[in-house]
Amino acid sequence: MEKIPVLDLKKQIEPIRSEIDAAIKKVIDNANFILGKEVSEFEDDVVAYCRVKAAVGVCNGTDAIKLALVALGIKAGDGVICPAFTYFATAGAIAAMGAIPVFADIDPLTYNISLASIEKALKNSKVGIKAIIPVHLYGQCADMDGISNIAKKNNLKVIEDNAQAFGAEYKGEKSGSIGDCGTVSLFPGKNLGAFGDAGMVLTNDQEVESKLKILRNQGNKDKYYHLVLGYNNRLDTLQAAILKVKLKYLDGWNKKRQANADYYNRNFKSLGLKIPFVPEGNMHIYHQYTLRVDGTSAKLMDHLNSKGIDARVYYPVPLHLQECFKYLGYKPGDFPESEKASLEVLSIPVYPDLTQEQLDYIVNSVKEYFKK
Ligand SMILES: Cc1ncc(COP(=O)(O)O)c(C=O)c1O
Repeated sequence: MEKIPVLDLKKQIEPIRSEIDAAIKKVIDNANFILGKEVSEFEDDVVAYCRVKAAVGVCNGTDAIKLALVALGIKAGDGVICPAFTYFATAGAIAAMGAIPVFADIDPLTYNISLASIEKALKNSKVGIKAIIPVHLYGQCADMDGISNIAKKNNLKVIEDNAQAFGAEYKGEKSGSIGDCGTVSLFPGKNLGAFGDAGMVLTNDQEVESKLKILRNQGNKDKYYHLVLGYNNRLDTLQAAILKVKLKYLDGWNKKRQANADYYNRNFKSLGLKIPFVPEGNMHIYHQYTLRVDGTSAKLMDHLNSKGIDARVYYPVPLHLQECFKYLGYKPGDFPESEKASLEVLSIPVYPDLTQEQLDYIVNSVKEYFKK
């Protein structure tokens, strides 16, 4: 069996290559590379897809969070709650804007931010907290009803970090459409990926939309008239043209991921590991299919890697223990569920183009490990 990568983009692109080539050619023919019409066309498509009032194309998912923070009025020195178990960029974006990441622990079943831990952070924080950034980790939404209630009671803004869950649903609503803003990463490896960096901010507030549009474009209200200190954070026309083609295929790809996940679930049920838990009301789009092994997943990972299967740990070090966040003063033991998860999780390939033969090979390799 040939190696099974974590994702096979060449296979994904092949069947839609001519459509993408035509879209790229059109952009080159028009030579309108900055905020060309494909950007607003893609934004309109995302508005319809996410059933949201506005979608603002930006350059990546990290800057999407930064712009959302600024557009929602979060200032330097403000505290922003986010989970300790997420990709660096969630907290990195908060810190880059001069705000203070205030970590919370996760729910051990869903790996998403825990409501009890948010309440604890609100009670104990020495800085004034102004916002919460729940992360929809691995492709399913955090407990948005609970988070919205806490936010309302404490007058906090909510930014959904929807980098990994674009297309997922929470109680019938699209992920990213529930909070004050939803941010999206369209990095090539995401379920909807560009041919480079790209991102998006979703919002139902038209005032926030116009702030985002000014902020992403150097603070320009009109060309050379700078209203605020903005950034160069625009979405490329070329990327928008590619994404516009790919968006049409996203639901089909996500359905295949769900079918692959179902197949794994059926086969792994009786083994000594935990399969993903999906609370009622959540539609999971399996950006990752993440197993959990009591104690440590390291040996299972080594076994699968030795069989040519690219299994990985997302993420091996929780953010409160990262060198770069030492200045925040956290210590081991502060977020036990995040620390435990970082030792026990393991994601295996679940991408839509996996063949039945590859799926069976992965299933048999996992079973083989547990038979030993
Ligand atoms: C949870 C999360 N937040 C933010 C980001 C940042 O997105 P980007 O890489 O597009 O800047 C990512 C990307 O991996 C992510 O997984």
